[in-house]
Amino acid sequence: MSKKVDLAPLLLAWYAQNGRSFPWRFKGDARPDPYVIWVSEIMLQQTTIATGLPYFERWMKTFPDLKTLAQASLDDVLKAWQGLGYYTRAKKLHACAQQVLKMGGFPRDREALLRLPGIGPYTASAIAAFAFHQPTTVVDGNVVRVLSRLYGLTEVVTPEKIYPLAEKLTDKKHPADYASAIMDLGATLCRKTNPLCAQCPWQAYCVACKKGLTASIPCRQKIAKQVVRGAVCVIVNKKNQIFIQQADRKGLLGGLWELPWSKQATWRPMKARWHQCPQPIHHIFTHIDLTLDIYATEAEKVALPGRFISPTDVSKYAFSSLMKKVLSSIGSTPSSVFQSVAKD
Ligand code: ADE
Repeated sequence: MSKKVDLAPLLLAWYAQNGRSFPWRFKGDARPDPYVIWVSEIMLQQTTIATGLPYFERWMKTFPDLKTLAQASLDDVLKAWQGLGYYTRAKKLHACAQQVLKMGGFPRDREALLRLPGIGPYTASAIAAFAFHQPTTVVDGNVVRVLSRLYGLTEVVTPEKIYPLAEKLTDKKHPADYASAIMDLGATLCRKTNPLCAQCPWQAYCVACKKGLTASIPCRQKIAKQVVRGAVCVIVNKKNQIFIQQADRKGLLGGLWELPWSKQATWRPMKARWHQCPQPIHHIFTHIDLTLDIYATEAEKVALPGRFISPTDVSKYAFSSLMKKVLSSIGSTPSSVFQSVAKD
């Protein structure tokens, strides 16, 4: 690729015509509320825009500003996050809001932002660029893909590895628009599959396009998932209520409500006549491929912290996607789990 061509203006011109609009996006010199930028960036990590957008809009109605979020209960925050997964994000969002409120507002510098709970290199750069127009470089999955193709990188590329190249390309005078533009290019034209190279402002300079390598770049590293078979236990009382517990705050799904469960297949929370339900639950986490066998028993009292709730009250509690799958397989009449069960 010729080094003399300044690629950023080509991208910015394309963005001016084709850039997407989002409620968290402000074009040109506008100075948006850093709270809005921060919430959207945390929410959009590991979540698609299509999923994240309605959550973002509801969130801004429930917690319109930093103070409202900082003063809300963690239960309410988790409830609003319910279904987005990766719940440590919500817990850190809450902790960060409290810290930033005490500080009197968000710091402007990437380095200071990095010291806040839940703010990593990507989010710190994004807040500094979008909210404060600091000349930072934003590198997310889209940027890795675009630049890997542009430079024809055939090895596995990480955000850290590509950062120096990304930084060189960044338009330091328009860091916010540049970051939005390269993200949009990755999302709409330089897509994972079937990229629309003919419409790309960088086509003439793209090594992968020239060499016909867009299908094999970026080179993906396969993450080996741990395959786990565990157990989830449905305890039903005579009132047709089910027993739930609040997960340990320190754990992965901490603070959320759940049915007693374990990653060990033989685990049960107490001695009882357990019946195995025919249909297990399958759920894929980033690093774990989890299958949970469902065991059911009847009991009026449980010597564990937790409570019995009616199926109609399930919506009042925050459950993980995993537990929602379990609950929907149990349905609205928990005792029906005994209709087609085998003995443990
Ligand atoms: N994904 C993460 N942050 C984004 C943003 N600000 N605009 C578009 N997509 C995004």
